[in-house]
Amino acid sequence: YERDDGKPFRQRLLVVANRLPVSAVRKGEDSWSLEISAGGLVSALLGVKEFEARWIGWAGVNVPDEIGQKALTKALAEKRCIPVFLDEEIVHQYYNGYCNNILWPLFHYLGLPQEDRLATTRSFQSQFAAYQKANQMFADVVNEHYEEGDVVWCHDYHLMFLPQCLKNHNSKMKVGWFLHTPFPSSEIHRTLPSRSELLHAVLAADLVGFHTYDYARHFVSACTRILGLEGTPEGVEDQGKLTRVAAFPIGIDSLRFIRALDLPQVQEHIKELQERFKGRKVMLGVDRLDMIKGIPQKILAFEKFLEENAYWRDKVVLLQIAVPTRTDVPEYQKLTSQVHEIVGRINGRFGTLSAVPIHHLDRSLDFQALCALYAITDVALVTSLRDGMNLVSYEFVACQDEKKGVLILSEFAGAAQSLGAGAILVNPWNITEVAAAIAKALNMPSSEREKRHRHNYHYVKTHTAQEWAEIFVSELNDTVVEAQLRTKQ
Ligand code: G6P
Repeated sequence: YERDDGKPFRQRLLVVANRLPVSAVRKGEDSWSLEISAGGLVSALLGVKEFEARWIGWAGVNVPDEIGQKALTKALAEKRCIPVFLDEEIVHQYYNGYCNNILWPLFHYLGLPQEDRLATTRSFQSQFAAYQKANQMFADVVNEHYEEGDVVWCHDYHLMFLPQCLKNHNSKMKVGWFLHTPFPSSEIHRTLPSRSELLHAVLAADLVGFHTYDYARHFVSACTRILGLEGTPEGVEDQGKLTRVAAFPIGIDSLRFIRALDLPQVQEHIKELQERFKGRKVMLGVDRLDMIKGIPQKILAFEKFLEENAYWRDKVVLLQIAVPTRTDVPEYQKLTSQVHEIVGRINGRFGTLSAVPIHHLDRSLDFQALCALYAITDVALVTSLRDGMNLVSYEFVACQDEKKGVLILSEFAGAAQSLGAGAILVNPWNITEVAAAIAKALNMPSSEREKRHRHNYHYVKTHTAQEWAEIFVSELNDTVVEAQLRTKQ
């Protein structure tokens, strides 16, 4: 392609994810205010070198009228975003239902919904139909905007059908799919009623990526054991067609965190927090309020630690930031009350008139406040029951070059494979073990903290989100070229 100024256009990258990286608020019939989320993933995906990226996804709001849809589409275009409009019923069945009540818990080893099996079986069918329909709606928007030569990168468990929908329409399209969650053991995946349809749909992609080698291996086993296909060192083969499967561990935009620490506002926050918690060690948890994050287990482990270590009772505080998420799904509502109940009980048990052991916040923090909090923390507790990667652990490490605090990390987070050597690894289900890890972290000599931190800091600084995105996209291009060469031979 040629631009007006005669320079060649860069190759276009269409990123397709359930959610656009914006929060959209309607201000009037035809006006919207947009705030773009400035996360590392967003800058990585929109900033892949040599590519001009567009992001296609749901804006997270219901816009039933045409005037509103047109105005939002126009406003989003300025941010290189293209909306997919989903009505309330689809959101209920596809997003709350099939994605977050079925696939999300299953992929994190929490199983399929147990209660009222008959009702679940019935609604399962309609939720699965809505999932397929929603995926087709995403595909329609991609097809409308696709130009020959574009690279299409589909993301996450919401869009497992998308590669198939896209290839059915245009078999020449370059399609990659990346899963941000774990892919579970094939023995877990095979319990899913639509297990084969989902695997076939993903295999339509040219390149399939996971955070870790284990997840990739589980996916290949599911294809061989459930579909009877052949697994090769490169991926999965179906009647001569190879789908490449590989691990691409994600990172963060580490410099964004490191640089933020020098900002005067962040320094100011740091001073305030240091003053506030003077004389006490700070332990920190930052999680979406999700059952996979193991928040109740973490708080119970902290209680056990206080129980067994009377010396520390008035010398340590746990700050738990629990960001509300998927609040329309009943499981998440139950979790909120459960966590509140446990925090209240422990604060009643160990609190004094002047201080409480747990500060629990049901909200998110802005970026600068978060950086300051990471920087003053002595021990971070990331105790997910399962987690695709867990970037909170990376963010904490990036902000700790001065303090060299300790990271307690679940062995069931993908990050355990990259930061395991520097962290204290724990089984989050074993509350006694986590309590012992807290004691170890608080008593760790500075020479050992320094050594552990060095390892992790180096990793987080060098394995960035930007690099992750660039490697995936270039592998996708190469995979397609290799496949073309193979068919010519
Ligand atoms: C996980 C998923 C993402 C999702 C995010 C927030 O990290 O892998 O795809 O966007 O959670 O969840 P939400 O349901 O609010 O988009």
